[in-house]
Amino acid sequence: MTEPTLNFAIGCAPSSSSPSWRRAFVQDCVACHGADGLGTGPLAAGLDPQPADLRRIGARHGGNVPRDAVMSAINGDASDPHRPMPHFHVEPLGDLGLVENANGTTTPTPERLLALANFLESIQQ
Ligand code: HEC
Repeated sequence: MTEPTLNFAIGCAPSSSSPSWRRAFVQDCVACHGADGLGTGPLAAGLDPQPADLRRIGARHGGNVPRDAVMSAINGDASDPHRPMPHFHVEPLGDLGLVENANGTTTPTPERLLALANFLESIQQ
């Protein structure tokens, strides 16, 4: 299968030695959110609500990407069971790594989930 081309400027993407963020995005997200992240992928037309524009998450939240909310949206924790976006629970999202929180505690977080969150932060406009 040919991978769709990604149209992102990847200037500050996470380490290129670990391309899992890119594979994960292409495999799991492009169908709805589109290769440019604007929310106009091939499956988007039939969805209600429409997929979010992933380049403007920060803009919609006062300039900062709320990382916890983004990871919950992907993981499916905090979401409505009827929403069109699938729940990408912990298991398919990869091995757990420890992420340090603002208050100094750590949370076990799947590496792919973290990579996706970093990736989304890197494409904000
Ligand atoms: C079947 C279609 C579909 C797929 C596949 C999909 N999404 Fe979504 N996504 C949506 C829809 C629809 C919304 C808006 C409604 C909602 O939040 O559930 C959304 C919302 C989001 C949000 C919330 C944005 C915000 O501003 O609150 C994030 C983050 C997100 N998607 C990331 C992803 C990532 C990362 C992937 C791949 C791992 C992915 N999505 C795969 C349909 C999809």
